[in-house]
Amino acid sequence: MILVTGAAGFSGSRIVARLVAQGARPRALVRSRESARSRLPNQGVEVIVADTTRPETLRPALSGVETVIHCAFITADRKPGPGVNYYETNVTGTRNLVAAAKDTGVKRIVELGGLGTQPGRPGSYMETRYLADEAIKQSGLAWSILGPSIQFGKGAAFFQGLADLIRAVPVVTPVIGSGNQRFQPMWVEDVTTCLLKMAQEPWSYDGKVIEVGGPEIYTYNEILDMLMEALGKRRIKAPGPRPIAKLAATVMTAVLPNPPITPAAIELFDFENTATLDSVPYNFGFQPKSLRAWIAENGVA
Ligand SMILES: NC(=O)c1ccc[n+]([C@@H]2O[C@H](COP(=O)([O-])OP(=O)(O)OC[C@H]3O[C@@H](n4cnc5c(N)ncnc54)[C@H](OP(=O)(O)O)[C@@H]3O)[C@@H](O)[C@H]2O)c1
Repeated sequence: MILVTGAAGFSGSRIVARLVAQGARPRALVRSRESARSRLPNQGVEVIVADTTRPETLRPALSGVETVIHCAFITADRKPGPGVNYYETNVTGTRNLVAAAKDTGVKRIVELGGLGTQPGRPGSYMETRYLADEAIKQSGLAWSILGPSIQFGKGAAFFQGLADLIRAVPVVTPVIGSGNQRFQPMWVEDVTTCLLKMAQEPWSYDGKVIEVGGPEIYTYNEILDMLMEALGKRRIKAPGPRPIAKLAATVMTAVLPNPPITPAAIELFDFENTATLDSVPYNFGFQPKSLRAWIAENGVA
């Protein structure tokens, strides 16, 4: 049996839906039954309520499971608060999950991580991602890690945040740094295809960290232009030095319930968010979808 953690999330819900469509009867680990009800198929999946920061909830979730697809993370766009703690979920939660998986006889863990994960400064968001990856690699279980660039698809946080900013602020759209930082957006359904291959064809993927992105690389400015065009809004792009952007993000995160950008998300602008252009065909044997084509068909997230 396959267990998906973070199953009610943006990525996890697609993975569960695909497994259900395959007839695989997955188990879905969620923090609340309400979010599962609205985001998961109501048949063909076993829903279990658990929390990776509460180890006592994990044994029942893992019993009888062969493979875990681990997507229960606090991503950088989330504002820290009750139940939303980067270190507790990403590091302690992953360590708890690994320990419980070993106790219950799980064979393999496949992690949906991020592109460009590195040790990071002590106390940084990136450090939590790095320590989570280390917990997986040193688990003693069979493992693999997928590191995609930013994902697009209905409800994608990165694109939703930018679209909200363009809509909400007239005339000018603030840009983080020069706007030349590069991204290689990847469709969430293509990420799902890659992860399921890693889980279901382990002989090709075990022991590997694979970084992937879509078929095109865009700068941040080019993504803003594309979204403005799709939304029919003209805005002047106003570049702002990263320290100012970080200060603005800190203030917005302190005062707004859903800030358009957090200080943790600004950390992701410290490096190029790209893999090789042929990363998906080379590692997974198919051509991923283009962001431009997806927006032409679906509009903005
Ligand atoms: N979205 C992207 O653009 C993108 C790009 C590259 C990589 N990734 C990676 O993909 C992975 C999944 O991201 P996502 O976009 O799907 O995020 P998401 O939509 O926020 O989903 C994460 C899920 O994890 C759950 N969760 C959080 N803490 C938990 C805990 N302690 N115990 C159990 N479940 C917990 C959340 O539950 P609640 O709903 O209850 O909060 C949420 O459903 C992350 O590693 C992320 O870095 C995402």
